[in-house]
Amino acid sequence: MSVEVARLCKESLSHAMVGTEEANLQHGRDFYKYFFTNYPDLRVYFKGAEKFTAEDVQKSERFEKQGQRILLAVHVLAESYANQEVFKAYVRETINRHRIYKMDPALWLAFFTVFKGYLETKTKLDDATTKAWDEMAKVFNAEAQVHLKNSGLPHV
Ligand code: HEM
Repeated sequence: MSVEVARLCKESLSHAMVGTEEANLQHGRDFYKYFFTNYPDLRVYFKGAEKFTAEDVQKSERFEKQGQRILLAVHVLAESYANQEVFKAYVRETINRHRIYKMDPALWLAFFTVFKGYLETKTKLDDATTKAWDEMAKVFNAEAQVHLKNSGLPHV
């Protein structure tokens, strides 16, 4: 049930908290360090950072800020999940904002594999928590694909 899924996702996200302190900023940079190291092909979407290494991310003001944006967005997903209509509206808003990047629609589900991998670098994800993230990913992706379809865009 969505309240339990939300609880488990939020608990794991407490190990990747947003904020202004150095430790929080580092959580954000660490997401892109993990992302670009493990999925280098996906750097293609990040104009000007197509060749960025983890070391480049670490020194980058752009990715310090973007690190907070992506973590905040995932926290908002978890915080809104128990209110499914709000969650789904936020999914659609996220899709709309990414329209300009012309992403492969399969990436909306794949993102959560990346994110779980990142979170595993911060905390151990037990079986129930992994399943909770998979459930959120499924609902996110279902809404994303319907919204892409309704927007006349490529979907899977
Ligand atoms: C911004 C790609 C998934 C939230 C961006 C940018 C790119 C991008 C290229 C512009 C940043 C820059 O160039 O500096 C991707 C890719 C994804 C993905 C390839 C999947 C693999 C997501 C998901 C969320 C999200 C699932 C939400 C949970 C954001 C936010 C921004 C952003 C909040 C900041 C700009 C804005 O709010 O419009 N993304 N994204 N992204 N992305 Fe994603």
